[in-house]
Amino acid sequence: MTDLSTLVNHQTRLAARPTGAASRENWRFTAEPVVDPGADGVVVQVLMLSLDPAMRGWMNEGKSYIAPVGIGEVMRAGGVGKVIASAAAEFAVGDYVTGSLGVQEYCALDAGALGRAGLAKIDPGLAPLEKWLNPLGMPGMTGYFGLLDVGQPKPGETVVVSGAAGAVGQMVGQVAKIKGCRVVGIAGGKDKCEFVVRELGFDACIDYKSGSVRDGLKQHCPKGVDVYFDNVGGDILDMVLTRINRGARIVICGAISQYNATTAVQGPKNYLSLLVNRARMEGIVVFDWADRFPEAIREIAAWMAQGRFHSREDVVDGGVAKFPEALNMLFSGENFGKLVLRVADGR
Ligand SMILES: NC(=O)c1ccc[n+]([C@@H]2O[C@H](COP(=O)([O-])OP(=O)(O)OC[C@H]3O[C@@H](n4cnc5c(N)ncnc54)[C@H](OP(=O)(O)O)[C@@H]3O)[C@@H](O)[C@H]2O)c1
Repeated sequence: MTDLSTLVNHQTRLAARPTGAASRENWRFTAEPVVDPGADGVVVQVLMLSLDPAMRGWMNEGKSYIAPVGIGEVMRAGGVGKVIASAAAEFAVGDYVTGSLGVQEYCALDAGALGRAGLAKIDPGLAPLEKWLNPLGMPGMTGYFGLLDVGQPKPGETVVVSGAAGAVGQMVGQVAKIKGCRVVGIAGGKDKCEFVVRELGFDACIDYKSGSVRDGLKQHCPKGVDVYFDNVGGDILDMVLTRINRGARIVICGAISQYNATTAVQGPKNYLSLLVNRARMEGIVVFDWADRFPEAIREIAAWMAQGRFHSREDVVDGGVAKFPEALNMLFSGENFGKLVLRVADGR
């Protein structure tokens, strides 16, 4: 068991709410002793953190599906880590775990906080740690359940997904292929488009940064669009709405093009296409499927073992002090694959 009194916990805290894109001024960096979590508590050494577009939303005041991070609080973040002290029956020193660990080096959870953090054991023998933040973690669950339960793809249908090379996009496109669909991605840049076609097996990918999305949809979706899984919102959503089929399902997963907006969020102008096509648009929040995560993890891990599912992670070094710059990579599209911040080498 590690002597907790010898450890210093470096943390990144929210200092001020941003207007537009976040910058270093929005964060405060602290160093504190690691607190003993007491009877039934656990201390986790944070190894890797999941950097998610939603973090930008958690920095804002206002009502959402989850409370905003308070000023002065350690920034909320999902992660993977290793138990270094435990007085809880369910966890032993040396266990690898996932949960809401925060942007910090050590996460001390008392008995009450354990459940709130959603701490769960993971098997690093099944897949490397970063995969537990991507296909076997929150983004994977989002793509899997959002597509299957809400998108309801049928064999032979055309599925379009934006943010195609990203964490959620990788899952959506490959699950749709496994279900027998034609899959067309939308991504920024030649390399990302090549990756989703050559390495992930999508049928085509439209580079929205160098060509017309409208022309790309016409070319690659000759039979129209049955399912659109939207990760980006804005003009791309509007463009896809002009190509949907009767009875199409549009899954509103995210709208990253709007998260740093300083004016009103741009809603879909072409929404009457829903009326004409008797189509449906539905928002999702991944946590609604939390009780079914184990079944999805089992199936995705099996696909990975069979070589039917691939994923790419973009692991950034630099620890919690690098968090501000790393987070912004999501909004410039600098990340290539699921963005992960390495906090420590724990294996
Ligand atoms: N509803 C839920 O429960 C839930 C859960 C997880 C994630 N999400 C949402 O799912 C989406 C994808 O998340 P992720 O974790 O998989 O991120 P990601 O796709 O791995 O990374 C974000 C990507 O967004 C693209 N992007 C950034 N700005 C853009 C813009 N203005 N227009 C178009 N694309 C832009 C960039 O890719 P390019 O280089 O291709 O532009 C960037 O790499 C986000 O909207 C996120 O909020 C929702």
